[in-house]
Amino acid sequence: SWNLGDWVDEQIKEIARTVGDGKVISAVSGGVDSTVAAVLTKRAIGDNLHCVFVNNGLLRLNEPEGVLSVYRDKLDLNVHYVDASDKFLAALKGITDPEEKRKAVGRTFIEVFEEEAEKFGDAQWLLQGTLYPDVIESGHKGKGASVIKTHHNVGGLPEKMKFKLLEPLKDLFKDEVRAIGAILGVPRSILRRHPFPGPGLSVRCLGEVTREKLDLLRRADAIFIEELDLAGFYEKVWQAFCVLLPVRSVGVMGDERTYGYTIALRAVESLDGMTADWTYLNRELLDKVARRICNEVHGINRVVLDVTSKPPATIEWE
Ligand code: XMP
Repeated sequence: SWNLGDWVDEQIKEIARTVGDGKVISAVSGGVDSTVAAVLTKRAIGDNLHCVFVNNGLLRLNEPEGVLSVYRDKLDLNVHYVDASDKFLAALKGITDPEEKRKAVGRTFIEVFEEEAEKFGDAQWLLQGTLYPDVIESGHKGKGASVIKTHHNVGGLPEKMKFKLLEPLKDLFKDEVRAIGAILGVPRSILRRHPFPGPGLSVRCLGEVTREKLDLLRRADAIFIEELDLAGFYEKVWQAFCVLLPVRSVGVMGDERTYGYTIALRAVESLDGMTADWTYLNRELLDKVARRICNEVHGINRVVLDVTSKPPATIEWE
């Protein structure tokens, strides 16, 4: 049994000792891990931490604005914002294979980040919010076992760059990171957030990723999450989200025949994301979500529910 408050004090000293008066840069995503890592590091080295927040055009509804305002107004982090949406969408054009999408997003991210990092040419350290389960899952690769999915917050980045890696959270599980974030004063709006994959909505928009499909997916997802939260389920589940299927089907609205896309609802419970059980959401909630999505998101006329656990399915669809 260990005390998280002591862990925080120890880590702050440790980071200060390791980095000295060197400079650290970090890609922050608005997620729990990168945010807690940044706040912890800021406590140790102050303004020698430079955070880069890249809008890859694959974030959720109103997410870039929301995250940026928390970083700047509440956490007083030194954040450099880059809107690279066009670049990412161009890189994804024509791609339908899930791993190719991850590679395209990962590659573009490195390009954008490298360009940004040049502005801090004297930074020696790269901070990453890697957790223990990330280390384990990416370990599959090292042992020659099959790569289940490439997780771009572990692979790729460091090898291509000249930085030394700083990974203060690498022995921790998600719940510990949330507790540490609370100790550090990270707002609940961030700590309660579900995990969100590095490749963002690109792996939830099946088939080719287009602006039009992303827009439908974003609006449907916002409705699902809003209703889930109102019904008291948001913090009970590990993750919940919408997936836009590349399937169109026939529907009817008023006197009109429609031919629209399908949204799949995914909600799972899990301890660390390695295995997961699908969540039994009640009929009333599901009905409300389905009705709202079809009424409010023109272009979607069918909502289905994913009732598969992990294994055999993964949490994400791609
Ligand atoms: P899967 O879909 O493999 O997901 O069951 C397990 C957990 O990892 C997240 N995930 C990712 N996170 N980059 C990330 O940073 C990725 O490429 C990626 N793929 C999946 C997923 O959201 C879930 O929490």
